[in-house]
Amino acid sequence: MKVSVIGAGNVGSTVANVVAQRNFCKEVVLLDIKEGVSEGKSLDMWEASPIGMYSTRITGVTNDYTATAGSAVTIITSGIPRKPGMSRDDLIGTNAKIVKSVTEQVVKHSPDTIIIVVANPLDVMTYCAYLTAGLPSNRVFGMAGILDTARYRSFLALELGISPTDINALLMGGHGDTMVPLLRYTNVAGIPITELVSKERLDAIVQRTKTGGGEIVKLMGTSAWYAPGAAAAQMAEAIIKDEKRVFPVCAWLDGDYGMKDIYLGVPVILGKGGIEKIIEVDLNEEEKGMLETSAGHVRGVMSVLDDMKLFA
Ligand code: NAI
Ligand code: 2OP
Repeated sequence: MKVSVIGAGNVGSTVANVVAQRNFCKEVVLLDIKEGVSEGKSLDMWEASPIGMYSTRITGVTNDYTATAGSAVTIITSGIPRKPGMSRDDLIGTNAKIVKSVTEQVVKHSPDTIIIVVANPLDVMTYCAYLTAGLPSNRVFGMAGILDTARYRSFLALELGISPTDINALLMGGHGDTMVPLLRYTNVAGIPITELVSKERLDAIVQRTKTGGGEIVKLMGTSAWYAPGAAAAQMAEAIIKDEKRVFPVCAWLDGDYGMKDIYLGVPVILGKGGIEKIIEVDLNEEEKGMLETSAGHVRGVMSVLDDMKLFA
């Protein structure tokens, strides 16, 4: 089993590193357009294998897609990240062209691959890869929900002074400030979160989650990579090991949640077929309203992609 990671920048190299350390596939291929970068980073990771006790081979290449041939999973991280003052949506002009050209090469060499998109603006870059790939939508989806939920869970763990692993949560919608953390579906080892944390503190944590990406951009001038890389690797692992994990994933909706023709974050079952099922949970009127607002925002960015006429 081979996993390819396109883009060997901060997120891409972290994904490759986590995949290798988790030791669940035979080979990771890391590809970038910058001469020598993937090769150097891959060699460095491979040299850590005797210490980390993993045997996953890590191959770095410069723009040579033949090395990615036959990938079971391909993770697209190629694209520019935002700088302070920018929104994820500001990246579309550059990243749509990169995602389109990369996806063309990916499917040419791995026609049966499953694609996980990471580049921003996430929901619309996933749509861009879907339009390009010609693969069924259960094989093209995006990573955001695991990251956003992880941020939410990590903040709740700090609040309560407990392990983040005991916090279960669901978060839906687009990967942006309109994302929808769902308090009704958040619990600590089965105990509803509303019994443990005050409404005022929960509101503050939800707000911090929504702007969690921007908080990191403000601190270091570029976007995050440790949590995003770990999140994308977790998706690849669920697919390769056919784990049937339940995660929030940016998925193509075809009537689900009353919406059509849009990529949006929803809970799914991930296994060797990619998205094996979209799970529809009951939402109250307020939650539906928030999800629709988030979808409206994503549709606005989709129209910018349409205006670029890349698929005319
Ligand atoms: P980065 O700048 O560190 O790395 C991007 C890499 O892509 C660079 O090495 C660049 O040379 C490469 N690249 C550019 N064009 C390429 C092409 N045509 N083919 C192959 N490689 C190409 O950026 P970073 O921090 O790794 O972020 C990557 C993307 O992921 C950004 O768009 C960022 O906004 C997004 N992101 C998304 C997250 C999510 O939750 N979905 C979380 C974090 C970042
Ligand atoms: C994040 O949420 C920038 O989308 C990236 O960190």
